[in-house]
Amino acid sequence: MKPKVFVTRPVGDEALALLATRCEVASNPHDASMPWAELASALREVEGLMLAGARLTAELMEQAPGLRAISNVGVGYDHLDLAACTVRRIPVTTTVGVVEETTADLAFALLLAAARRVVEGDRYVREGHWQRWQWGLLWGAEVHGKTLGLYGFGHIGQAMARRARGFGMRILYHARHRVAEAVERELGAEFATLDALLAQSDFVSLHVPLTPETRHCVGAPELARMKPTAFLINTARGAVVDEEALVEALGRGRLGGAGLDVFEKEPHVHPTLLCLPGVVLAPHVGSGTAETRAAMARVAARNLLDLLDGKRPATLLNPEVFER
Ligand code: 8YV
Repeated sequence: MKPKVFVTRPVGDEALALLATRCEVASNPHDASMPWAELASALREVEGLMLAGARLTAELMEQAPGLRAISNVGVGYDHLDLAACTVRRIPVTTTVGVVEETTADLAFALLLAAARRVVEGDRYVREGHWQRWQWGLLWGAEVHGKTLGLYGFGHIGQAMARRARGFGMRILYHARHRVAEAVERELGAEFATLDALLAQSDFVSLHVPLTPETRHCVGAPELARMKPTAFLINTARGAVVDEEALVEALGRGRLGGAGLDVFEKEPHVHPTLLCLPGVVLAPHVGSGTAETRAAMARVAARNLLDLLDGKRPATLLNPEVFER
């Protein structure tokens, strides 16, 4: 008998067809989160779960006694209770390796858009304010030759560094572990303490995962250390930043601006952020391109099939479940 699997979002026919070669597949046809009771009932008999855009709590997992494989469609996993999965010896994989370049593209787009006031300019033209050329119109901040501080220096942080090199930027990074000297040389990136990075950067871009340790790791004290002209770019997770403190700093002109793809209480956005002209907002679309979404779905489907076969995909988050 084929194992039953459930897919929480309409991730495309290719991935569903791949799963259907060896599984009995059911999926949420709507690109919206399912009510808890509906999701719980969908999980009741499944052995495998492909998780996109849904929260997986220990309580929800109790509704799925046969669940033995979870494939997360994305790299962040703060929306699932990994400890509860590990206790139940359920392996969990991610799509690490697929989303990084695309997410760095968006981070750099937000950086450029915030610095050069692209959204303000667009609005200015559309609203019919552009009546004549003006010397002093919509001056922005320079990007080339400036200093970029990367807080977090994994795949996405390093992809940002490659982009910044093309703009002739000085690149500082801070991470728990220093990368190999050869990598620093290749990317032209210098390790810095967090204090030095915050004080010296014209743009600070966040690339740390959300964990209990990184929650609010950019709060009022960190924002106060940044230059009053500096920009904060966040494509990581909203709760890495204390949003209230960010709003306060921006509102009082203690920061140059921000480019944000992620928020503390998505999809709720702090109302003040909506009114601040120096802030560019995006609706959590870091990996949102046709190519990357298709690749994420394909890789996640393959991961799920491998897990159901008892294999250990390279992107396993909790390898300890395979230990005896
Ligand atoms: C995912 C993301 O699409 O990869 C991630 O961590 O933030 C997104 O690209 C989202 O988490 C849905 O699963």
